[in-house]
Amino acid sequence: MTVEHFDKDLFEKKLRDKVAYAEEVLLRHLPKEKGFQKKVIEAMNYSVTAGGKRLRPVLMRETYLLFGGKDTTDIEPFMAAVEMIHNYSLVHDDLPAMDNDEYRRGKKTTWAVYGDDFGILAGDGLLNLAFETAVSALDLCFEHHGEEEPATEEVLEKVQRVSRALKVLAQKAGIYGMIGGQTADIEAEKQEQPISEEQLIFIHAHKTAALIQASMMIGAILAGAKEEDIKNIETCAYNIGLAFQIQDDILDVIGDSKELGKPVGSDEQNHKQTYVTLKGLEVAKLHVEQLSREAIALVGGLTGEDSFLAQLIFTLIHRTK
Ligand code: IPE
Ligand code: IPE
Ligand code: MG
Ligand code: MG
Ligand code: MG
Repeated sequence: MTVEHFDKDLFEKKLRDKVAYAEEVLLRHLPKEKGFQKKVIEAMNYSVTAGGKRLRPVLMRETYLLFGGKDTTDIEPFMAAVEMIHNYSLVHDDLPAMDNDEYRRGKKTTWAVYGDDFGILAGDGLLNLAFETAVSALDLCFEHHGEEEPATEEVLEKVQRVSRALKVLAQKAGIYGMIGGQTADIEAEKQEQPISEEQLIFIHAHKTAALIQASMMIGAILAGAKEEDIKNIETCAYNIGLAFQIQDDILDVIGDSKELGKPVGSDEQNHKQTYVTLKGLEVAKLHVEQLSREAIALVGGLTGEDSFLAQLIFTLIHRTK
């Protein structure tokens, strides 16, 4: 069965349930707004609870299930962590010193409500909380294990998987991942000469695809997927991430700001060269479709193209928000 032919209503219902679950996990890991640090916590929680598609934790869980992951509580700390890192990246991305945007998810951006100082601190707070949360997955490895008992093979294997997942999360969010991409993105705004294709692909692959790779790879790693499958998932998520950012560039030109919840024309205002300025709208759209089809083929090879994951990638091709 090809991916086009599926029950859209059923898909929408499943997606709503999966997003609701991801959201519930995330909310459970948020800090209480109290103490002398109350204001930064309010700013953190404001940004995280403002909405959003929750795409990354949903992709993580679906990949985990794809590789036969059984106990989904194992991945909950990582689901929350990746969404916290994503939110921190957006809080900083919107700052006046970066993209200078005042609206996101239909609400005032964090800095616009709490000031630049608390925008910076809230982002820092979310990044640290993300790792604090992810590390708590180690405690879960020992959950049904007596304190005095020597660690069993099973426990050691779980610890190994969690350690590897932590490493992937740190690398893909860091200077060789998302931060590297944001760096190249901001530098490119200031350059006189036209952006090269190589430069733009680097930016998109790092600022956006890297966290999507982390999400899906962590799902695969925690489920105990084979090395070869983890590699395939990394490539698949690269395609999804690139397509996702190209579509974001497209929506910045032809999207509806009400539906998007963020301003259109922000890239032009920042003199940002995007996939649309480089290739034109039509080629950009074509590449979103091609990259997504490649991702679907990779997932299809593992599970069949009628899986929820394949359907999700397919629906992202024509997303309007
Ligand atoms: C926005 O990401 C930033 C990009 C990487 C393009 P999303 O479009 O996933 O943002 P939310 O979380 O749904 O608001
Ligand atoms: C942002 O890309 C990617 C990250 C935050 C890492 P954009 O700057 O295009 O994202 P939006 O359009 O503000 O959501
Ligand atoms: Mg940006
Ligand atoms: Mg931006
Ligand atoms: Mg954008």
